[in-house]
Amino acid sequence: MHTSAPKPLTAHRAARLNGRLRVPGDKSISHRALIFGALATGVTRIRGLLEAEDVINTAKAVTALGAPASKIADVWEVKGRGVGGLRQPDGPLEFGNSGTGTRLMMGVIAGHPMTVTMTGDASLSKRPMRRVLGPLKQMGLEILDEGKETLPLAMRGTSELVPITYTLPVPSAQVKSAILIAGLHAAGETTVIEKEATRDHTERMLRFFGAEVRVVHKDGLTHITVKGDAEMHGRDVTVPGDPSSAAFLACAALIVQGSDVTIEGVLVNDTRIGLYTTLQEMGGDVTLLNRREDGGEPIADIRIRSSKLKGVHVPAERAPSMIDEYPVLAAIAAFATGETRMDGLAELKVKESDRLAATAAGLHANGVAARVEGDSLIVTGTGAVKGGGTVQTHLDHRIAMAFLTMGLASDQPVTVDDTAMIATSFPEFRGLMEQLGARYGEQA
Ligand code: S3P
Repeated sequence: MHTSAPKPLTAHRAARLNGRLRVPGDKSISHRALIFGALATGVTRIRGLLEAEDVINTAKAVTALGAPASKIADVWEVKGRGVGGLRQPDGPLEFGNSGTGTRLMMGVIAGHPMTVTMTGDASLSKRPMRRVLGPLKQMGLEILDEGKETLPLAMRGTSELVPITYTLPVPSAQVKSAILIAGLHAAGETTVIEKEATRDHTERMLRFFGAEVRVVHKDGLTHITVKGDAEMHGRDVTVPGDPSSAAFLACAALIVQGSDVTIEGVLVNDTRIGLYTTLQEMGGDVTLLNRREDGGEPIADIRIRSSKLKGVHVPAERAPSMIDEYPVLAAIAAFATGETRMDGLAELKVKESDRLAATAAGLHANGVAARVEGDSLIVTGTGAVKGGGTVQTHLDHRIAMAFLTMGLASDQPVTVDDTAMIATSFPEFRGLMEQLGARYGEQA
């Protein structure tokens, strides 16, 4: 929980960024590896787990539920209890800033006859849970604070979950995953229907752990079915580098003149790399090299050289594959020439902050012309950014990192009001940026 004093930080103009490095493990895959490890029988060993606050909270949660997760030498081990085999925790489960941890674990709790209270920080306690609670209630989850739809929440699961077929009203991998995880515990087949493809790590990893998952594409929709009363077995998982963390380094390298940066071993699953496609369309020198597979996911090394960028239209259909990357894309669109229009951003309003509003406000504070029109963000780039402003981060790690990226190439330094919550997803952010040649300081 971030109850400590805020830690402001200022980004100064950098000379150039150079080097080869790796980013820490993917956040989405790290949460899932811990959770599926807990639901499998036997031991799961995880290499490259992201050791950030959000994921550590999930590790603590599975431990409290009777599936101890701990680090032995370089590898995390989870002693699984099997689907339906977890036990009632002694106290509330605390999820800090993490919507993913919370929502995926709601799917787990739904399938166990136990009463659990879930809590989170000020940001998480504002985020909508109805999107997950609605379908889970249809399956049999009981919410003890009837009518309440935000954390803290007390709920009771059941060993008699009913399978459902559910069409996602919002493109959300978290909601999809919560239902599929609950479906592992139900008697029969549970199907989630998606209109827009969202990240598919749950489907891939459930199969890898031995669950039966069927994916059918029909009439422009994707039907994902999981077979209930599932049996899963402990596995060895390798977590690839997080493309959402790599995004900050890549965007920084594009806007700081003379830069040449290679990020090794990054996850390049199609459902995650919309940003990199967009950067290429903007004229960015971004190459995916040495494509290979690791742990059932495609990975590559990404080389980025600074480039002259032009404004582009980012279509709404691309949003799920780059949903966490819009703040940093908007920040670097300010250095492009011409307008960058990003459509279909409704989901940005319900992230760790209202990212649509927070991004526009941060741009305005630094002299960038940007406007929100409904669910679209339009940034007018002039090739240069004045800077000199202080950005309100609203407990949102990605807002902080996006503007600490922008400040590396703006005329005046850019300050963010807090950086403490960067530790929720990417504690190494400042160190890795500085390793490339970035300059940060506590004073403007
Ligand atoms: C995530 C899904 C996305 C993303 C989040 C991680 C996941 O959220 O924003 O950072 O691991 O499933 P939604 O699926 O709610 O859009």
